[in-house]
Amino acid sequence: MITRRELLGAAASLPFVATPSWAETQSAVITRPIPSSGELLPVMGMGSSRTFDVALDSPMMAQLTEVVRLFFAGRGALIDSSPMYGQAESALGAVLEKLSMPAGLFAATKVWTYGAEAGVGQMQESSRRMRVPAFDLMQIHNLRDWKLHLPTLRQWKEEGKIRYLGITTSHQRNHRELEDIMRTEALDFVQFSYNIENRLAEERLLPIAAERGIATIINRPFQRGALFSRSKGKPLPPLAQELACESWGQFYLKWIIGHPAVTVLIPATSKPKHMKDNMGANVGQVPDVAQRAEMLKIFKAL
Ligand SMILES: NC(=O)c1ccc[n+]([C@@H]2O[C@H](COP(=O)([O-])OP(=O)(O)OC[C@H]3O[C@@H](n4cnc5c(N)ncnc54)[C@H](OP(=O)(O)O)[C@@H]3O)[C@@H](O)[C@H]2O)c1
Repeated sequence: MITRRELLGAAASLPFVATPSWAETQSAVITRPIPSSGELLPVMGMGSSRTFDVALDSPMMAQLTEVVRLFFAGRGALIDSSPMYGQAESALGAVLEKLSMPAGLFAATKVWTYGAEAGVGQMQESSRRMRVPAFDLMQIHNLRDWKLHLPTLRQWKEEGKIRYLGITTSHQRNHRELEDIMRTEALDFVQFSYNIENRLAEERLLPIAAERGIATIINRPFQRGALFSRSKGKPLPPLAQELACESWGQFYLKWIIGHPAVTVLIPATSKPKHMKDNMGANVGQVPDVAQRAEMLKIFKAL
């Protein structure tokens, strides 16, 4: 497992990756640098919307603990949550404590409220709920009251209360405003949706992120699970074997990883079997431009 120290110690001089290098594609875990620091992150993160919205006394907690254990066994690092996700932050906090706060954890949550003071209160509450004294990344959820929260996040970063700041959306209607923010504000991370069916981010968000040196977190990599209904019961194509993809899930994740401006993906699952599957895409070969085009052709023909 990559430790926090190893991640921090990674060469700050690494350029923003244009194409995954041979060494990167051969190494055990696929990593990408955070452009603002050079710190390397494993490309596979995990989300927690719906999947972790579970009461602490629910029998589901044992299963979710196994999900997170497998995430770290697969050398994942970034876990994404939000106060918007019901009890997810609290469930994650309990699971992380049970697993003795895995060393590689890169903890990310969001502020999702109106008003600067309410924002501070909410972030403090998230810290208590997720049992993380200082988040690695704090994001403004769905652009909500971003003009008020951004100065707070800058101040928190300066004071060492967070290490990185960012902003998120999953709505197309927010893209224009998000583009403006990305062009005018200093951000470490931006989070939006991108998958083999919803490719809109390719047009402007991913190129702007590359140009401005902003790390990207890709949410809804499975289009909320809808991609699986397209491929259900269909055999994997020979190209999947070439890329060492053992499932359609890995095929979909690898397609996203093949975009050079992608930093981290955050698929969400409540099932150990699916987490194991997803972490299978954290390693091995990354598809090149021609292979991605072929994968897309295959998907469109499903
Ligand atoms: N505005 C924002 O900031 C924003 C918006 C949307 C999402 N997000 C973040 O992004 C994360 C991911 O997005 P999402 O949860 O909406 O959608 P998603 O990751 O695209 O899809 C999740 C669905 O895929 C299924 N799944 C996962 N792995 C699978 C596998 N290997 N095989 C078959 N099915 C699999 C899950 O079901 P099972 O539980 O049965 O595995 C779940 O129903 C969220 O959890 C959240 O953290 C952020």
